[in-house]
Amino acid sequence: MSFPEGFLWGGAVAANQVEGAWKEGGKGPSVADVATYKPKVDVKDYKAHVGISLEAIEKAMADTDDTYYPKRRGIDFYHHYKEDLELMAKMGFKVFRLSIAWSRIFPTGEEKEPNEEGLAFYEDVFKEMKKLGIEPLVTLSHYEMPLNLATKYNGWTDRRVVDYFVRFSKVCFERFGKYVKYWLNFNEVDSIIRHSFITAGIIPELCGEKGELACCYQALHHQLVAAGIVANMLHEMLPDAWMGCMLTKLMTFPRTCAPLDVAATQKKNLENMFYADVQVFGEYPRMILRDLEKRGFTIKMEPGDLEILRTGTVDFVSFSYYMSMTESVDPNAERTPGNTVLGVKNPYLASSDWGWQIDPVGLRISLIELYDRYKKPLFIVENGVGAKDVVEEDGSIHDPYRIDYFRSHFKEMEKAIDEGVDLMGYTSWAPIDLISASTNQMSKRYGFIYVDQDDMGNGTLKRSCKDSYYWYQKVIATNGADMD
Ligand code: BG6
Repeated sequence: MSFPEGFLWGGAVAANQVEGAWKEGGKGPSVADVATYKPKVDVKDYKAHVGISLEAIEKAMADTDDTYYPKRRGIDFYHHYKEDLELMAKMGFKVFRLSIAWSRIFPTGEEKEPNEEGLAFYEDVFKEMKKLGIEPLVTLSHYEMPLNLATKYNGWTDRRVVDYFVRFSKVCFERFGKYVKYWLNFNEVDSIIRHSFITAGIIPELCGEKGELACCYQALHHQLVAAGIVANMLHEMLPDAWMGCMLTKLMTFPRTCAPLDVAATQKKNLENMFYADVQVFGEYPRMILRDLEKRGFTIKMEPGDLEILRTGTVDFVSFSYYMSMTESVDPNAERTPGNTVLGVKNPYLASSDWGWQIDPVGLRISLIELYDRYKKPLFIVENGVGAKDVVEEDGSIHDPYRIDYFRSHFKEMEKAIDEGVDLMGYTSWAPIDLISASTNQMSKRYGFIYVDQDDMGNGTLKRSCKDSYYWYQKVIATNGADMD
């Protein structure tokens, strides 16, 4: 058993969770800049963390400080990117996944011309990566649309946002096409149902009588159409480039073998995969359309939309995988948090400090299931564990729990590859500590590289290497042969 030659080992981040510099370089405010750190709210109450209202946005925008708005400061990658990329290159990275903050390029989303300073920033980043021999993997949309598009149009519910996104993508392809081969359209496209504001700029009170969920399905359709247009555009403009979709793989197992638990689980898994189904097969699954119809949701489509979906399919399938969960029809079954979901607890699994259930075998099952279903190259673009790290007096950070997590997942990846799965690469989430997407905490640490900053933004921002840094360096150097 071994990883294929040329396997793309690396790590992944998102602009809004690392860059900071929210008002520099001509950047406009994004939905991430109003995301609020809520120290008094239980981290397991994810709905309270990701919820939004017009009042909260107004309050946030009146506050120019970043203490309670950690994504405004990130880990200051904007000014540290050379140092950070160098640390990643020393770890042996072959690939680094990052996103382009839309509001750095089009500050309100509506400008006719892009912001040159924003373009120049990313161009410098890509040049630096090229110098270091690191292949970029670029997400076009990762929870950071211009705030103006959210407040003015209720985000992706409005069809006009498709055009704005296509304009943004075109500029990215024109300017960065010579550096970037691998692109992703929407990060965790399915997450719109779990956090509609972060993913799609939807403000529930603007949804009116039809309600938030109806807005979500309409916005999702617009994102899927945009993804189709953008895939076709990429293939035309840059024939050697590859477009991928990105799914949160929320692997769900039946809590028991009771047929009703199995049926409920099947429904959950089909729902989870339908977002990728559309982007791979080029059409909505019939059973999903039927389900939407039965629940009273009507998606407004324009002439030509189905043709766009049919032709604008993706070249590879990427996904995040952190945990698994179970499902049961028993209303009293104990639920536990996962990646902004609540699933039924699995008695066979341990959990992270944040309650996410750790399941390496679930990753193997996911890989086999996705490859069997899509028959496209797969890319794991997020996987990792948020944990509390302790800095010893001598500055060292011992994180055996992180090494155990990764080792156990890599072993299962290897088994899936051995069974015939075509896995292109793996980017850990995240190679460097960053701001949590859901809770806006800094103390939920994912990195191999420690960043000296606390939840309130205190700290020197000094980077230091945890034990896991040297372990991952060895794994990459041996292409997975030495995981001890
Ligand atoms: C994924 C997101 O769902 O999970 C990332 O794409 C996010 O942006 C990651 O950071 C981990 O979630 P959290 O809430 O612990 O940051």
